[in-house]
Amino acid sequence: MFAATVAVTSTASAGTTLGTSAAEQGRYFGAAVAANKLSDATYVGILNREFNMVTPENEMKWDATEPSQGQFTYTNADRIVSHAQTNGMRVRGHALTWHSQQPGWAQNISGSALRQAMVNHITQVVTHYRGKIYAWDVVNEAFADGGSGGRRDSNLQRTGNDWIEVAFRTARAADPGARLCYNDYNTDGQNAKSNAVYAVVQDFKARGVPIDCVGFQSHFNTASPVPGDYQANLQRFANLGVDVQITELDIEGSGTTQADNYGRVVRACLAVSRCTGITVWGIRDTDSWRASGTPLLFDGSGNKKPRTPRSSTP
Ligand code: XIL
Repeated sequence: MFAATVAVTSTASAGTTLGTSAAEQGRYFGAAVAANKLSDATYVGILNREFNMVTPENEMKWDATEPSQGQFTYTNADRIVSHAQTNGMRVRGHALTWHSQQPGWAQNISGSALRQAMVNHITQVVTHYRGKIYAWDVVNEAFADGGSGGRRDSNLQRTGNDWIEVAFRTARAADPGARLCYNDYNTDGQNAKSNAVYAVVQDFKARGVPIDCVGFQSHFNTASPVPGDYQANLQRFANLGVDVQITELDIEGSGTTQADNYGRVVRACLAVSRCTGITVWGIRDTDSWRASGTPLLFDGSGNKKPRTPRSSTP
């Protein structure tokens, strides 16, 4: 498979799965998991064989964990965490704050009421999972697309520019052992948006605001290909003193082109010592949020897609 593309070149005993190949390189290979698929034997078979990190695809989002204000439901998220623990996988928590997939009640409040609700949400959820989470996506997608380099307008942003800092401090207080990440898309290469994230990470490190990692979603397709400066971008963030992680990888396409692109991503992570792992956003193509783009590593029947032959790896 793709992780082995590189692993076999440098180790005598190459792993035979994504997870074991990554582990040989001191890294993890994860997948986004949906609780309602844990009864699908083919799905679970691949998950347990190939992966050593899981991210709940939707089950830890605000609308899922706090559907009514102050009333927390963890059933589906707990199911995924328990499956992970039973099978020796770690968990990336996703996502404590986001402009999307908020419960209706949160969408209907603002200002200090929303800020207080955000703080309580983070405190409750992180405390519930204290000691069980490798890394939390504390803040997801807070920056605007395009060339502005500004924040995304959202109800959370309108509570005050310090909301990101407050979110990270709150998460740290609730679980000092979890790595705390900022996560976004269209930040995979060097551009105005990633420059803006870079400036915030630099500022947080300088002022002692707790941040441990930056997640690069890496949803790629023809319109948004793997950037030529992907590795350089990961490296510049790592140089700030944070880990970097590829958090939601999927690459639309098929055949050799798709395999080559996966190979590029794996090699970029392996070339950056603080790139601690890769998570793909689903298991089979049919599990993907973008299923029509067949963007994942296993086809709809659960077969591994062919890796690129080493002789033709660019
Ligand atoms: C997606 C899920 O895959 C879908 O099932 C859901 O309907 C919408 O959200 N960025 C993120 C992820 O951070 O949480 C999103 O996941 C994909 C884009």
